[in-house]
Amino acid sequence: MRTQVGIVGAGPAGLFLSHLLHLRGIDSVVLELRSREHVEKRVRAGVLEQGTVDLLTETGVGDRMAKEGLVHHGIELRFGGRGHRVPLSELAGGRAITIYGQQEVVKDLIAARLADGGRILFEAGAVGLDGIDSDTPAVRYRHRGRDEVLECDLVAGCDGFHGVCRDAVPQGVLTAYEREYPFAWLGILASVPPSTKELIYSHHERGFALHSMRSPTLSRFYLQVDPDESLDRWPAERIWSELQTRLAVADGSWSLAEGPIVEQGITAMRSFVVEPMQYGRLYLAGDAAHIVPATGAKGLNLAVADVRVLADALAGWYGDGDTGPLDAYSERCLRRVWRAQHFSWWMTSMLHRFAGGDPYQHKLQLAELRYAVTSKAAATTLAENYVGLVEV
Ligand code: FAD
Ligand code: DHB
Repeated sequence: MRTQVGIVGAGPAGLFLSHLLHLRGIDSVVLELRSREHVEKRVRAGVLEQGTVDLLTETGVGDRMAKEGLVHHGIELRFGGRGHRVPLSELAGGRAITIYGQQEVVKDLIAARLADGGRILFEAGAVGLDGIDSDTPAVRYRHRGRDEVLECDLVAGCDGFHGVCRDAVPQGVLTAYEREYPFAWLGILASVPPSTKELIYSHHERGFALHSMRSPTLSRFYLQVDPDESLDRWPAERIWSELQTRLAVADGSWSLAEGPIVEQGITAMRSFVVEPMQYGRLYLAGDAAHIVPATGAKGLNLAVADVRVLADALAGWYGDGDTGPLDAYSERCLRRVWRAQHFSWWMTSMLHRFAGGDPYQHKLQLAELRYAVTSKAAATTLAENYVGLVEV
């Protein structure tokens, strides 16, 4: 098989890139390891920045999001047993976030690609790349029990953190920057109306908790847990009891409604960047090139930002042979990537309990949180990063 751009991975990065390229008349094929059902059901992120929402809307894949997405103009930081609202939109020039599950974005993109005659091969796992330092790269993949080859002009490695594309770059070319955190998140979806209108990020001596949502009848929660934690040790009663404790307010003026848990999982917390994000005819995008701890809700938004830059650069290259924007791809993306790295690290450091419960650090976190909700300058920093910066 042959195409112009060979895309590995049908997550948000790969699918949205394929869609953007189609709008510019550039052909692509997406290879995806898992089944369509699997990628459409995978529960992950839920917060879309204003820029992500605008881009999905402008490119014709925002109809369902406009109907079902929940637009939020603020978030709550809860600490010391009290809630404090950060008025995001007021502080960030009217910009807002939209709560719309990642798997809904993925469903909408798959539907759009298929309606436009796009080629997405599910259960087609890439096993290796050939000739990425030549003009004729190719992706080797396995599909329906057979070894196949996808020939292309360029490869977009959108295959997530555990994919194969990053490893195809020769040793010594990439530099990795990394930080592991001594905790993970246990996430649940519960069939119960949210007990809050806006997201609650809660700092507590027992560890961080987050109250989010997906719809008027579906709530999403996260609990900080040990990095090697197993779901077997977390029956529903323990999850709810811990959420009740960590989200409680001192004066009892708020209560948390419980309901049946319909999905649960544990996510590692890691910061990771490789530089550069390109080598020869291979361009890495999204989680394949960088990971952020989920506290800042940036992973999905960064993936979308990368492929926007890549699609523009490819349009220039195919249009009039301009190699400048393609050559500058990595440099251009990394500015936003590092801004999001810092923001995600900062939110994570401010809100989680660190091992040993160092009392000095606990006091520093409270001082930082209080500053974030009492100083307009500090709150604006949080707000403009959270809704997404226009220029980086
Ligand atoms: P992915 O969504 O990972 O897509 C990569 C795709 O490539 C996958 O479909 C995978 O199956 C496929 N693939 C892998 N290997 C191959 C191969 N060899 N051949 C073909 N296909 C391959 N972010 C937040 O902001 N908030 C959250 O709550 C949050 N929760 C998360 C929970 C989990 C378990 C994970 C893993 C991530 C979470 N994230 C969260 C991060 C966010 O979901 C990611 O940043 C986002 O999915 C990145 O999109 P992507 O397209 O780059 O990668
Ligand atoms: C959600 C996930 C996040 O990582 C976050 O910071 C806020 C909300 C969510 O899944 O709803």
